[in-house]
Amino acid sequence: MHKDIFESMKKLTIPDIINRKGGEKLTMLTAYDASFARLLDAADIDMLLVGDSLGNVLLGYESTVPVTMEEMLHHVRAVRRGSSSFVVADMPFLSYQISIIDAVRNAGRFYKEGGCDAVKLEGGIEVCEAVRAIVRAGMAVMGHIGLTPQTAGNLGGFKVQGKDAASARKLLADARALAEAGVFAIVMECIPDALARVITEKVAVPTIGIGAGAGCDGQVLVTHDLLGMFEKFVPRFVKGYANLAPQIKQAVASFQEEVQSGTFPDAEHSFTMQLEVDKLLGEDC
Ligand code: KIV
Repeated sequence: MHKDIFESMKKLTIPDIINRKGGEKLTMLTAYDASFARLLDAADIDMLLVGDSLGNVLLGYESTVPVTMEEMLHHVRAVRRGSSSFVVADMPFLSYQISIIDAVRNAGRFYKEGGCDAVKLEGGIEVCEAVRAIVRAGMAVMGHIGLTPQTAGNLGGFKVQGKDAASARKLLADARALAEAGVFAIVMECIPDALARVITEKVAVPTIGIGAGAGCDGQVLVTHDLLGMFEKFVPRFVKGYANLAPQIKQAVASFQEEVQSGTFPDAEHSFTMQLEVDKLLGEDC
């Protein structure tokens, strides 16, 4: 069903998102620039995440660890310019772990300089003090537990989390602590679906799954993965809704070939008109 024009222009608020718990599923996709943000807005995606995954996907880093505040801010501003939806800015590694003051200041930069609607940070009980301080300062925080890419090395690599009793209990404790600290939603990454479902039932705020099964209150994916544009590594939980990389390569190869062979540009793509160019330029040219 089509939403009316004012409805479709309406940005979700934090209470709107919390009220979707157990109801209509939430959707979130990554956006890193204004052009993609416009495309995602047109599809009524609920939330755009300027993820630090841009480190791998756009900037060519091997992980998200090197991503800086300045790099993130550059992309958050671009997404804000292209979107009138709810924009979440991902706090990069060491922008919230060193001190609470740093955490509040950096979250504040995303709000004041980037125009975001919320920030996201990775971790459980250990980041709750930072979450509380950011929320107390008037900003909204999304949590992120399970496979947390900024500290994946400590978790034994990019692996499913919560498979044994100790880590399953820790994940539940982390989710509860984050909710108690004031997050409005929690991303759960790479968690067995049965565990994600139980955690979803036991916390009051919406859970947004990525590789965490259908029992979550919403789903998030990296847009470049969903579109088949990032070929370096495709996690098992990614569903490719399109396979654009071969099409992009084919289109670019055609351009290369046509320029070399002289078939592009042709008359249709040139400003062809009868001009007496010699007269136009004058003899002294
Ligand atoms: O950085 C990111 O894109 C993320 C999502 C995978 C949730 O954190």
